[in-house]
Amino acid sequence: MCGIVAALTASGNVVPDVISGLKTLEYRGYDSAGISVMTDSGLQVRRKMGKIANLEAELLSNGLPNSVQAVAHTRWATHGVPADRNAHPHTDDTGEVVLVHNGIIENYAELRTWLRGHGHHFQSETDTEVFVNLIAYHLRKLGDLHAAVRAALEQAHGAYGIVCMAATHPGILVVARMDSPLVVGVSENGTYAASDMPALLHLTRDFVILENGESAVLTASGCQLYDAKGSAIERPTQRCDWTPEQAEKGGYPHFMLKEIEEQPDVLARTAFDRFHDSNGDVDFEPEFGLDDAELRYFSRLRFMAMGTSLHSAILGQQMLAKLARLPGETLNASEFLYSPELEEGDALTVIISQSGETADSLRAMREVQRRGGRVLGICNVMGSTLAREADHLILTHCGPEVGVASTKAFFGQLTALYLLAIRIGRARRVLAPSQGRELLNDLRALRPKLDVLFGKESREAVRVAADYLAGVKSCLFLGRGMNFPIALEGALKLKEISYIHAEGYPAGEMKHGPIALIDENFPVIAIATPGRTYDKMISNMEEVRARKGKVIAVAVNGDSKLAAQADFVLPVPEVPELLSPLVNIIPLQQLSYEVALRLGCDIDQPRNLAKSVTVE
Ligand code: M6R
Repeated sequence: MCGIVAALTASGNVVPDVISGLKTLEYRGYDSAGISVMTDSGLQVRRKMGKIANLEAELLSNGLPNSVQAVAHTRWATHGVPADRNAHPHTDDTGEVVLVHNGIIENYAELRTWLRGHGHHFQSETDTEVFVNLIAYHLRKLGDLHAAVRAALEQAHGAYGIVCMAATHPGILVVARMDSPLVVGVSENGTYAASDMPALLHLTRDFVILENGESAVLTASGCQLYDAKGSAIERPTQRCDWTPEQAEKGGYPHFMLKEIEEQPDVLARTAFDRFHDSNGDVDFEPEFGLDDAELRYFSRLRFMAMGTSLHSAILGQQMLAKLARLPGETLNASEFLYSPELEEGDALTVIISQSGETADSLRAMREVQRRGGRVLGICNVMGSTLAREADHLILTHCGPEVGVASTKAFFGQLTALYLLAIRIGRARRVLAPSQGRELLNDLRALRPKLDVLFGKESREAVRVAADYLAGVKSCLFLGRGMNFPIALEGALKLKEISYIHAEGYPAGEMKHGPIALIDENFPVIAIATPGRTYDKMISNMEEVRARKGKVIAVAVNGDSKLAAQADFVLPVPEVPELLSPLVNIIPLQQLSYEVALRLGCDIDQPRNLAKSVTVE
């Protein structure tokens, strides 16, 4: 999806800073990029279809002057095809006002007609060009850029994160947001704005996060924030604990590989500081905001999310049922709006999202709140919309996840859900302190066991299976119980980065239809680690092989009984069944990565996908 970076300093040249910030946002997926700078003789704009490298080439051949003030953008087409003319920044028809915009102005067609009636001309098909002309219209009447932006926003309906500058107002940037993230970064060297914090981590770690409806005027020395009514307000900065290095590849060929390998550290970061060993309990930070009495009040849970986070949600429901004896349901967040409006009563809704900006999940959160329910957000991004608007919060502390295919965030979500299950189990007194301690120790003991998955033998097993899987067109992932969501997640990983068709199924469902697909060209990936489902998984694998289907099995290291039923084995260490999903997903992530590598796919930015899906 689109990305915004803007910078303003008192002296020097900010162009390299904004280009470097823009590159940090490449992972979001985009089809064109552009930049505008303020010069003594007015605004200059450069825009190019394709990668940021194309824009850089354009800047080399068609030089851009140094400037203390710049706005830049990566565009993911909504209105109008990917093309130079549709790329941002857009200017009004006099070239005096420039705008970068994330989101969609829904009434842009009416506004365009209205503006044409007032003599404005348009060169692109975009809603943003309409919006910047609207700002220019008001600027001519009001003479003040912030007032003009606010007047334009009053006429526009839809979602926006914007940064605007005008030749008549050097030294000022005006920013605003509604349902599309926008943060302001401050440092002694300048003031910055971006759609995502990682884009500014090389410049600052201190941020002011805008709420919906708010706007701000940025100068080189700071920012003045305004509420939705236009009154000046104050808000302290928040310090982001992410580092610029976390948002870089650090020598890895792909972010996805780096993020897969970071998972043992994610376990430590998400969990270990929260252990309360003496009580066998978990201490969440103050933003969790639920004490024992409140946790005992809830008698049912509802989990909602999208994509990979939805797979965490299914597992969360299972963990909470097992450890806290709380019944729950899991819903695809995009479907919640259509569910009958029943009493929320004593239900707690858990919304899980890596980005905290997924439109479907946010919509579901607000609908729960509108119906009178309470929401606990589980999220990786401090200051995101979910983190700010949920009634209660657990941050997963995974560090920035850049690869479009979610890996370490999933791992962090499962870890946080396991902790939540212990916390609620202890509060409801269905877990004794000794049981809580045992569960915490199991999690602590997991860390060294994960190292095996990154050893030579495991990597080699994954590569051999990938050599085979890269040649197939379609496959099935099967799991049961706690490993059914892992089958779903394994299939999602493979399809999104390698474009091989894959479906995840509960293994018990295979005989009810999917088995018809199995022949010598249609493999099955079976998750068959020890536990209640082990024997049944072996039977399912036999059924596949009886039909000449090849089997790739995720199995415990040294399990010869299972190895006899598999063509390829992805070995994993033995862990308690409740923690097996955290282990079993890793070789499946590695398998998808290796397959996509063999097929020459764009691993970190798969086609048609965006890291954060901010439209419904
Ligand atoms: O940021 P979120 O966790 O809310 O994102 C939800 C999905 O869009 C996301 O998990 C998506 O499915 C990923 N591409 C999965 O790898």
